[in-house]
Amino acid sequence: MVFKKNKLDWAEFLKRTGLIEFSIAAAWFVLSSLIIVVPSDWRRALALLVLNGAGLGLIINKILTMHARSIFFTKRIFLLLALISCSVLLAADYLLPLNPLLVPLSAATAIYALVYGNRSVAIYLTIYLSFVLALQGSENYFFYFTVHTIQGLFMVYFSSVRTERNSLAYSAVYSALAGIAAIVMFCLLGQSSFVSFYANAGALLLSAVCSIVVIIGLLPYIEDIFYIITPTKLLELASPANPLLRRLSMEAPGTYHHSLIVANLADAAAESIKANALLARVGAYYHDIGKIKRPLFFVENQHAFDNPHNQLNPHMSSQIIIAHTRDGAALGREYKLPQLIIDIIRQHHGDSVVTYFLHTFKEANAQAAESERTLVNENDFRYPGPKPQTKEAAVIMLADSCEAAVRTLEKPTPSRVNNLIGRLIKEKLDAGQLADCPLTIRELTAIQLSLQKTVANMFHNRIAYNDKSKG
Ligand SMILES: [Fe+2]
Ligand SMILES: [Fe+2]
Repeated sequence: MVFKKNKLDWAEFLKRTGLIEFSIAAAWFVLSSLIIVVPSDWRRALALLVLNGAGLGLIINKILTMHARSIFFTKRIFLLLALISCSVLLAADYLLPLNPLLVPLSAATAIYALVYGNRSVAIYLTIYLSFVLALQGSENYFFYFTVHTIQGLFMVYFSSVRTERNSLAYSAVYSALAGIAAIVMFCLLGQSSFVSFYANAGALLLSAVCSIVVIIGLLPYIEDIFYIITPTKLLELASPANPLLRRLSMEAPGTYHHSLIVANLADAAAESIKANALLARVGAYYHDIGKIKRPLFFVENQHAFDNPHNQLNPHMSSQIIIAHTRDGAALGREYKLPQLIIDIIRQHHGDSVVTYFLHTFKEANAQAAESERTLVNENDFRYPGPKPQTKEAAVIMLADSCEAAVRTLEKPTPSRVNNLIGRLIKEKLDAGQLADCPLTIRELTAIQLSLQKTVANMFHNRIAYNDKSKG
């Protein structure tokens, strides 16, 4: 079953991603092989070559099954992984003769864990690199493999449970201590001498501390260059103390409240399809940030005020509504939001039509005298797009329209809410708004069920369970 799934992903990988990712994967294999086999005799070279091929194959396969067709699977991330593992192997060339425990394995494992926010790829890579490094050394294979693996696994664990940027330093020290504990075990078992203990422990601690200093310095650049957001960055953006979110809560409180609800809906829906739930949540916090510019033109901020659209013609009103995606992207750039979030802001309405004002315009046009009628061009009432390009952006689009629609239901009953959500998703699908994102029909069904469930939980007090309309 698993094999079949993996095979399908490989075939799809070659078919869908084109030559670039495949070339990077092939170059990754050739380069890493060259680095690790150069100093060996031919039998060890052959063994290391096979091991390298198997290790990389396993890792790429894991990435494919986890992230294929998702936001995280891009050629830049592939390139990042290739660069990091090749750098570690290259550093090993110089450091192995001094002390194999000086090799900065924890730098690589921490970056893997942070990039993916998921431990399994990082665990695979830790074991693979420890294995290759151990075989590259001249003796004590088992000792170095065990110490590197234990240190690497602890690093993966600590850096994925403690995602604040500063706690990386603690993670490095704790993981080095775990490695030192392993060295002590070997000494007690008589497999390693106490004479070399201080040199080994010192090397481990030194490499852990140095590599974490490098990571903390490099991480912001890695995030920018490789178009990724680490969970650390996402958690920073999710903080209510963030200046842009604080502005939203002060200047457009209604929109802020709406965004919090959309975030809850999108988070659960993304989780149900194994997409990046944290990215969906943070993207939802910022999706309507452009409404800060003219908050009172949006219904959720109008409680105590007159509707300013009453003074405008429908065409002008629609232009103001449509502008919020463009304004949001501009604000995002001003506040240096990551490109992934800015893309979500631009894509969350796709190229849909502002139907309310289009209808109002058509009605006014029909009632006007014949000489005053103008030609109705639907495209004037359209968002500029683009349509959602990723699963997370599509989930936010669906969660957004569900929240807005459910809010307007006068007597929400479970069946009315469920029908409404089903109808909204079908409308988006029929209008072609989901045509550019990689969602499958099965995933759409999962999203629908998740949205219905979350809405039922969130609006529990408001939803009338005695559905009298059904009798
Ligand atoms: Fe919006
Ligand atoms: Fe919205």
